[in-house]
Amino acid sequence: MGANRKIVVIGLGYVGLPLACLCAKKGFEVAGLEIDEGKIDLVNSGKSPIKDNYVEENLPKVVGKISATSDTGQALKDAEVAIVCVPTPAVDDKPDLGFVKQACETIAPFVSKGVLVVIESTVYPGTIAEVLKPILEKGSGLKAGKDFFLGHCPERIDPGNKEFSIEDIPRVLACLSKEGSEKAKKFYESIVGARIELLSSVESAEAVKVVENTFRDVNIAFVNELAKSFDRMGIDLGEVIKGASTKPFGYMPFYPGPGVGGHCIAQDPYYLIASAKKAGFEHSFLKLAREINNSMPAYVVTLVEETLKKLGTELKGAKICLLGLSYKPGIDDTRESPALKIAELLRAKGAALKVFDPFVKGESNTGSLDEAVKGADLVVLATHHKQFLEKLTATYIKAKRVKAVVDARNALDGSSIKSKGILYKGIGK
Ligand SMILES: NC(=O)c1ccc[n+]([C@@H]2O[C@H](COP(=O)([O-])OP(=O)(O)OC[C@H]3O[C@@H](n4cnc5c(N)ncnc54)[C@H](O)[C@@H]3O)[C@@H](O)[C@H]2O)c1
Repeated sequence: MGANRKIVVIGLGYVGLPLACLCAKKGFEVAGLEIDEGKIDLVNSGKSPIKDNYVEENLPKVVGKISATSDTGQALKDAEVAIVCVPTPAVDDKPDLGFVKQACETIAPFVSKGVLVVIESTVYPGTIAEVLKPILEKGSGLKAGKDFFLGHCPERIDPGNKEFSIEDIPRVLACLSKEGSEKAKKFYESIVGARIELLSSVESAEAVKVVENTFRDVNIAFVNELAKSFDRMGIDLGEVIKGASTKPFGYMPFYPGPGVGGHCIAQDPYYLIASAKKAGFEHSFLKLAREINNSMPAYVVTLVEETLKKLGTELKGAKICLLGLSYKPGIDDTRESPALKIAELLRAKGAALKVFDPFVKGESNTGSLDEAVKGADLVVLATHHKQFLEKLTATYIKAKRVKAVVDARNALDGSSIKSKGILYKGIGK
């Protein structure tokens, strides 16, 4: 790094905000360019706008070292590195590059000679060279790879993961030029205490991220499909996975559930599918995996209906308690969350629904776990927050007079629950 040591992070969300904190911790002057004024105020006062362990712990320690703003010129003034961390959603199962194109259009006039622009947002192979490079070159009047540096370093952060944080996850990266790659490697080595692997092309780096998340999607689809078939065959998939996991090579456990959510796994396969289609290849296997995972919320609702039938009742008018709305435990992110879909389907079928998530109080219609569970015919566990698992013992469920439980995360003690005379159904269990 040169003398300036100023970094701009564009987009202060689940990816950009931890990165801004990390850069500030490592002694860089950090500007955060953001369009959400509410987030800007919170960040500048040291308060995290998101539920994220890393940010909640570190942001208060770096107050005054991160300057969040919506003023692009001010943010990019004297900056040496600009890192784009804006959303890249899939709309109608197709990549939507609107945010990342807009972000590049906004910063382009302020990109000066020698600046390193890194796209951390997830993009499909070819996006940077074919879509973003022309935008940045046009707006700056400079040549990428010659006058300024441009590359990709996909973020692998896993919000809520206490074992791996942004500080110690290895990274892959590539820039359009060798000089850019070397500069970017030095920069990332100065902030991340893990291996930084240089790849030979930006397209390879783009492909790495979508492949990693597609790998998870297809493997989860595999066990979700097994769960459906083993439910019919009466085989406990959980025990099968446990057994298969004793093989020390050639097997890696994945677990069934209510589907996949979040801004990555549920969307990135569509990026890969679309870019391959553009090149003339149809990914039938990946599309099927998406279909299977997308079918799981409806499968959970089918299990609810079958369980109610055993109680001699039907879903219409039944008192159902849905626990959890975020797409995984310990966080407040509900993007693409299967729990939202389950809630929608239950409501559409006439259930009297009480919903509670301690991390997503704004979308809960009850204020506590006790209130949500009280009087329910059936409880659906959609997200296995620690707060739920600690309390949802067989004794507690029995005391609340709940008659049945559908455990969409296989996270509760099914045998104890059954031993109290309560119906219990897991996924593939
Ligand atoms: N969330 C994850 O776990 C995760 C992990 C790895 C990679 N990613 C990828 O990182 C990218 C960002 O995801 P995220 O989860 O942080 O999204 P996010 O929605 O949490 O944050 C994005 C932020 O960018 C801001 N923004 C949008 N357009 C802007 C613009 N033109 N200028 C400035 N700010 C702008 C938004 O207001 C928002 O605060 C996506 O491409 C995603 O696929 C996400």
